[in-house]
Amino acid sequence: MGRKEEGLIPEIVSAVVPGPKSVEYHNRCTKYFKGLSEQVKLFPVAFESGKGYVLTDVDGNRYIDFSSGIYVTTLGHCHPKISEAVAKYAGQLMNCHDFTTEIKMRLVEKLAAILPGDLKGFQLYDCGTAAVEAGLRICRAATGKHELVSGFYDFHGKTYGGVSLGHIRSTAYGATRAPGSHMVPRPDPYRPIWTKADGTIDTDKYIEFYEIYLDRGTVGSVAAFVLEPIQGWGGSIIPPDDFFPKLKSLCERKNILLMADEVLTSWGRTGKWLCMEHWNVVPDVVSIGKGFGNGFPVTCVAVREKYAKSFESISASSSYGGNPMACAAALASTEVIEEENLLEHAQHLEKVFRKKMADWTTKYQIVGDCRVKGCLLGVELVKDKKTKEPFDAAGKMVYQKAFRKGLAWIPAGHILRMSPPIIMPEEIAIKGMDIIEESIAETEKELLK
Ligand SMILES: Cc1ncc(COP(=O)(O)O)c(C=O)c1O
Repeated sequence: MGRKEEGLIPEIVSAVVPGPKSVEYHNRCTKYFKGLSEQVKLFPVAFESGKGYVLTDVDGNRYIDFSSGIYVTTLGHCHPKISEAVAKYAGQLMNCHDFTTEIKMRLVEKLAAILPGDLKGFQLYDCGTAAVEAGLRICRAATGKHELVSGFYDFHGKTYGGVSLGHIRSTAYGATRAPGSHMVPRPDPYRPIWTKADGTIDTDKYIEFYEIYLDRGTVGSVAAFVLEPIQGWGGSIIPPDDFFPKLKSLCERKNILLMADEVLTSWGRTGKWLCMEHWNVVPDVVSIGKGFGNGFPVTCVAVREKYAKSFESISASSSYGGNPMACAAALASTEVIEEENLLEHAQHLEKVFRKKMADWTTKYQIVGDCRVKGCLLGVELVKDKKTKEPFDAAGKMVYQKAFRKGLAWIPAGHILRMSPPIIMPEEIAIKGMDIIEESIAETEKELLK
């Protein structure tokens, strides 16, 4: 399964990468374009085109895409069905505010059919952050309560509401949290706070703590827990399987909503439409983004039927939300996932990745933990396996080495984050993992000599 692209991949033709044209374009561009991510600063390449899982830079070097932009092009670059769908509406009707269109009607009917449980109320936006903010407003409107609880190292976008529920030091210089925003520890199996006698993580202790915190740490007006199912920015941190079912029960007992921020984890990224489906939990509110339009900026808030009327009280519409091109991109992406059995393929690739990484923690001194759900991966590099001290220098070195060998990707600090498109054939996925392993081995040799 997966879609094979033509030609040798990866293929590095420049004497050094980034090549001369990349360097020139980057220097000219960054004279004016500011605020680059760390990844771009560490590897200032300029891209020209993308097809499927292949990215080509302006010097003609061809890379395996292990990032999908930034978890966005889940179905690969420029899938013909999606590009044609957008082009059709670019030539027919670009915007008509939130009036009904045929394409919007077809999209929301499709969403109602495929999403789990009674998630049957929708509004559309143009970025993940806007969807999150609308979701927060829905939680407040539906409950009449104002406090919100999120988890350490969560990420929910860069506007005030989202930042207030995220790891604030890295996203909001000089800001403080909005009143009523709370942060609690969430279970990270590699770095647990509470463990059982056998040393494994104790989910019940986290839930017990939340119950105490709700009682003593809030003013008793909590509208919702707002959490990423798997923390993407935080480093592909996958909670224990019993966490969300137990949290949902707590929420139900306390009359609190559960909002899942699935901007990063939805639309096939983890092998399901929603990551929460892995744990059979239907959240009350969900934000969906990134892969939803496979590169076209379109996002969604989905809510359970009984809360759908709350959309009326939050002034839900926006300038670009649900425009015809966006609906066409989202509907085409959804149909491609169905037609090409890509949820199953992502689940298959998970097994391939799991097998490749199975011995990394024993084979390499600097690899502390490996984790994967579908095509969402994380490898944590540490200086010492006992203290688990993050090894940032190793993360940077592995990143640059692998990029030079032809792997385009987006690690963050000491955590190697990977998010290949779910259309990737198995042999290319293995090639990508081989490049990463080779780069880890070389880095370990150089840094620990
Ligand atoms: C979980 C989560 N929520 C919200 C956002 C914000 O989305 P956007 O960058 O599209 O505004 C992101 C982006 O990375 C995300 O990962």
